[in-house]
Amino acid sequence: MDARIVVLPGDGIGPEVVAEGVRLLRAVADRHGHHFVLEEHPIGGAAIAAAGSPLPESTLHACRTAAAVLLGAVGGPPWDDPNAPVRPEDGLLALRRELGLYANLRPVKVLGELMEGSPLRPERLQGVDLLIVRELTGGLYFGQPRGREVVDGQRTAVDTLKYSEEEIRRVVQLAFEFAAQRRKLVTSVDKANVLESSRLWRQVAQEVSTSFPGVRLEHQLVDAAAMRLVSNPRAFDVIVTENLFGDILSDEASVLVGSLGMLPSASIRADALGVYEPVHGSAPDIAGQGIANPLGAILSVSMLLRHSLGLEQEAAEVELAVEAALAGGARTVDLGGAPALTTAQMGEAVVSRLATRAPA
Ligand code: IPM
Ligand code: MN
Repeated sequence: MDARIVVLPGDGIGPEVVAEGVRLLRAVADRHGHHFVLEEHPIGGAAIAAAGSPLPESTLHACRTAAAVLLGAVGGPPWDDPNAPVRPEDGLLALRRELGLYANLRPVKVLGELMEGSPLRPERLQGVDLLIVRELTGGLYFGQPRGREVVDGQRTAVDTLKYSEEEIRRVVQLAFEFAAQRRKLVTSVDKANVLESSRLWRQVAQEVSTSFPGVRLEHQLVDAAAMRLVSNPRAFDVIVTENLFGDILSDEASVLVGSLGMLPSASIRADALGVYEPVHGSAPDIAGQGIANPLGAILSVSMLLRHSLGLEQEAAEVELAVEAALAGGARTVDLGGAPALTTAQMGEAVVSRLATRAPA
């Protein structure tokens, strides 16, 4: 297969973990005779420094026309001034918005190998395998009006939580499609006891569910869902929720797998284009040290192979190689490695497991 893949390393540990994702992509291409053209572009703080914009037009154009995008992370202390006119995060948000990537998939699967790394009791973690489907281009992140003004001498700020029924329908529909392939339960998370937008969300979710008679729908308030995520995480199959609730719940869910460094994500839309990125962010505290866990990026590559390129076998091979590396004792520092592997050593550990399996 021929595919042009855009690589956006970004800031902090982004470039370090993305380098391991790229190493893996090259190894997969070699093994299976694919021809991946990898094209690197700036985003985030790195792009502000290089081009004066967190999402230069050339980067956006490259992404629009690519088969898939692999992204590291954006943001960091140099750009944290609350009065800054432009922030690295704006580049990521604009990319999601401009590409219309309305669904963010964050799978959370607890591997037996890593259970001791979680602060939760192993009996609660056994068999946890859930998928968070987070709405990504609506809600408080993008709603208008938004901004600051002085009202009656008070500095005042406003954000708007707004959803149209179509914005809700398409993401809930996607959640049902995934659930139909899994354990056939959708938990729609909202705050319908307070928010008008949540009441519409609940209504639309109910309507969508009538097209999926084989899938059960339950509604849960976000506060209760936050509690259940740590008290009984096995109860979930697919969670679908609005943008900010999904942002918060997915960081919470990362605790289940022992390290935020493990979690991949895919931001997708109706066609095959997607942006794939580890959930962990730029982690400025450990940037430049070569110790970050690249497995979130590597598992994001697996999602890229599956979702954007339709390479199911290759995707599954990557996941097996990650499990084999962990089973062989490979651990970065966040996974309690002592001695810990470096980012590059973990990348190599996965690639070498890939190579020991003969292609089918
Ligand atoms: C995420 C991040 C982003 C978000 C930030 C960096 C804008 O936290 O992908 O979860 O809030 O969506
Ligand atoms: Mn987040």
